[in-house]
Amino acid sequence: MIQVKSPKEIELMKRSSAIAAGALEAAGRALHAGMSTWELDKVIYDYITSEGAIPSSKGYCGFPGSACISVNSELIHGIPSKTKIIKEGDIVSVDVTAEVDGYNGDNAYTFTVGEVSPEARALLDTTEQALYEGIKMARAGNRIGDISNAVQTYCEQRGYFVVRKFIGHGIGHEMHEDPEVPNYGKPGRGPRLVPGMVICIEPMINQSCAEVIIRPDKWTVVEANGNLSAHFEHTVAITDGEPLILTASALHHPK
Ligand code: MF3
Ligand code: CO
Ligand code: CO
Repeated sequence: MIQVKSPKEIELMKRSSAIAAGALEAAGRALHAGMSTWELDKVIYDYITSEGAIPSSKGYCGFPGSACISVNSELIHGIPSKTKIIKEGDIVSVDVTAEVDGYNGDNAYTFTVGEVSPEARALLDTTEQALYEGIKMARAGNRIGDISNAVQTYCEQRGYFVVRKFIGHGIGHEMHEDPEVPNYGKPGRGPRLVPGMVICIEPMINQSCAEVIIRPDKWTVVEANGNLSAHFEHTVAITDGEPLILTASALHHPK
């Protein structure tokens, strides 16, 4: 069942979302070649807890990190590790969920480390813009399929592949609530959007195929051909007017 939030609940979700966004910015500032993904996770843990919030991912279905940190062909759910060293030219997806006052905020950004290949840059630009194409459709009266189709069309027109196995979601007391928010679909289909719905739109886009493989660690989701993948995410509230990006920060640049 889709939980429609009251204005008071939206106010509370502004705080959890701002903390999740602040943690992502802190990760971006700390990120450098030579550090481990475990060290980056520690920066996120310290930020969230210093704000009086909880890293929702820690312990979620047994996940050991405070954030998911996924490098290059890793799409999502990368487990922070002391032996995983970030290097120049990598693309690093960081996905942070924070909970405070009983509400969650969830966001992700794929960072670059130094100079990256033009192919990597193009994939990131497309995936990030696809997120904003989806957000543009997040308006009362539209349907989930309008968001899904906008993301899918934008990416496929540029030669990229939309992952089907993982999708966006509603958010609130729980990190994952109804409705499902796929990155593929038909306009005019799916649940109708009403003011007070809060959803996470999160394009997960591959360079060479739509398929993914899950590593033997049971978490890390990888582009099936070993090519690059990207992931961007915002928590967005449906209003009477413009979509409200609760996790907005200086990191993200809508066009
Ligand atoms: N933040 C993720 C999402 O966008 C979920 C985290 S999975 C966890 O839905 F296991 F790390 F919690
Ligand atoms: Co997330
Ligand atoms: Co999410």
